Amino acid sequence: MSVSGLTGHDASCAHYLSIADVERAARRRLPASVFGYVSGGTQDEVSLKGNRAVFDRLAFRPRGLRDVSQRSQTVSLWGKTYTSPIGLSPTGINAMVCHDADALLAEQAHLAGLPFVISGASNVPLERLASIAPDCWYQAYFPGDRTRIEKIVQRLEAAAIETLVVTIDTCVGANRENNMRNHFSVPFRFSPSLLLDGILHPRWSFQVFAKTLLTAGIPRFANMDETTGNRIIDDSPKGFRAGRDQLDWDTLAWLRGRWRGKLLLKGVVHPGDALLAVKLGVDGIIVSNHGGRQLDSVMSPLQALPDVLAQVPPNFPVMVDGGFRRGTDVLKAVALGARMVFLGRPPLYGAAVAGAAGIRRVLEIFQTEIDRDLALLGCRSVSEVSSDLLSVCGAPVLNDQHSSSG
Ligand SMILES: Cc1cc2nc3c(=O)[nH]c(=O)nc-3n(C[C@H](O)[C@H](O)[C@H](O)COP(=O)(O)O)c2cc1C
Repeated sequence: MSVSGLTGHDASCAHYLSIADVERAARRRLPASVFGYVSGGTQDEVSLKGNRAVFDRLAFRPRGLRDVSQRSQTVSLWGKTYTSPIGLSPTGINAMVCHDADALLAEQAHLAGLPFVISGASNVPLERLASIAPDCWYQAYFPGDRTRIEKIVQRLEAAAIETLVVTIDTCVGANRENNMRNHFSVPFRFSPSLLLDGILHPRWSFQVFAKTLLTAGIPRFANMDETTGNRIIDDSPKGFRAGRDQLDWDTLAWLRGRWRGKLLLKGVVHPGDALLAVKLGVDGIIVSNHGGRQLDSVMSPLQALPDVLAQVPPNFPVMVDGGFRRGTDVLKAVALGARMVFLGRPPLYGAAVAGAAGIRRVLEIFQTEIDRDLALLGCRSVSEVSSDLLSVCGAPVLNDQHSSSG
């Protein structure tokens, strides 16, 4: 039985032509505080804006007159084939966006043949998510305490989860001023302005807030520890972020020895960290600045990508996320050498506007754009998308030889 109860194409989402359309609809659908939590960054949102702005600095140099009638956008990773070079980034507290959102995201990613990463701050128990998307990955917010890590690792092993992603850019909480202004906090606290926000968004109040309370109760941090944790409105007995500032390379080296599955680091930006990761024996890297939600003014992942790639052996999987909203964005990262691109906010916007159908529409928009863009670049597969198809935008170089004036 499917989680969403939906099959086939849902015509109600066909009028969303781009991810920007879906985002605009999500802004209308969600209370301002919830939309702010999803869409926002930290402080002055320099990284958030930079993640998008960098794409405009890269231009394509397409090839013509090639037979591109047979196209494929499949990508292989550790012997598994995914249908497209896109996956779903881990995102926490998805229950605020849509009822049973984690399960819907897992289901739609699985149906689309794409990787799905369970967030350590997610609300649906990972055992259920792993039964919906058996090949899912788990993202950890690990403390430095090895005893606590060991217990989570045992839970992952029991759930047959084989890919562990350790996020390294969240040693302390970020300064998200937009959340404070909107009275949105973790742990979640009710306030008069939030109440008013809910009244102004009745569809969200009934279909997300009330439905979740009535069917599952107040959402919990289901996957942060070895058992289902506290409710999102409670202070965590262990401290929500307790001990994360003690996680270090020594602990990572211990974990590499302990964890037999695939081990990835997410949040790598500095080439020195990429080098350490490779030496330690990790299986992959996700270059990320957490969608501009942690340290502000971090360079965009796309800018960081070439220097990271320079530190890793050939064919070592380097993936990336942050600001990807178009097929052309994805192919720019692929041209630079990224194996896979992850999407954080776009699937959440889809979930907010139409649940499973909205997520499916978001993935479909990306896949349709990638397919068309591959053809227009003169490529039949993502492996043909190489860096010579890219150029960094600058002033045109004047060539005297061809100038008309003498
Ligand atoms: C609402 C929200 C929650 C997030 N929660 C997590 C999380 O729990 N763990 C994590 O590693 N990253 C988390 N991220 C960061 C994403 O995994 C990803 O790095 C980022 O969203 C990519 O940028 P994009 O949203 O522009 O695609 C979150 C991002 C958003 C928007």
